Amino acid sequence: MDLSEIEVRDAVDADCLPDLMNLFASAWWAAGRSASDLNRMLETSDLVFGLVHRPSGRLVGFARVLTDDVYLAVVLDVVVAPAWRGFDLGAMLLDAIVGHPRLAAVRSVELVCQPELMPFYRRWGFTEQIGRSRLMRRTSDPLLSDTQP
Ligand SMILES: CC(C)(COP(=O)(O)OP(=O)(O)OC[C@H]1O[C@@H](n2cnc3c(N)ncnc32)[C@H](O)[C@@H]1OP(=O)(O)O)[C@@H](O)C(=O)NCCC(=O)NCCS
Repeated sequence: MDLSEIEVRDAVDADCLPDLMNLFASAWWAAGRSASDLNRMLETSDLVFGLVHRPSGRLVGFARVLTDDVYLAVVLDVVVAPAWRGFDLGAMLLDAIVGHPRLAAVRSVELVCQPELMPFYRRWGFTEQIGRSRLMRRTSDPLLSDTQP
């Protein structure tokens, strides 16, 4: 794996949409997202991070952030293509997120993850020390309310 062949981009081009759909198909909470919904998501997300394998032009990783630039940023949809996992691409995404100038002064950066991924996110200072706060959710998405893997 030659990481110098991987480029972090701040947008996902229309020709990478099929790759993005494949990426999300491998993520339990995002399977089945439609092209039109993904296009709208890409347009309206504050920050988008795409990992592109330059020689092939394939999108092999993705993450996005919603933020008000001051108080809060929420990291969402962190996914690396299954064949590329375990080669530090996830770390590239998190480095790009926490190092982004728009997030430098934001007071809190938050994310939701499964327990087994907590050691991964701790590397960037994420902690489960959240005081008495508890996640609550109002959702129409059964993937988010059913028992998760
Ligand atoms: C989580 C994910 C983005 C990490 O990407 P990656 O390129 O494999 O990450 P890196 O190679 O930089 O780091 C690998 C580390 O991820 C962690 N990790 C990834 N998946 C894990 C899992 N299912 N269980 C436990 N640890 C996991 C490990 O700590 C691993 O560390 P190691 O190399 O010491 O074993 C990727 O595994 C993925 O896309 N998973 C499916 C989607 C998902 O669950 N995304 C997270 C949403 S919160």
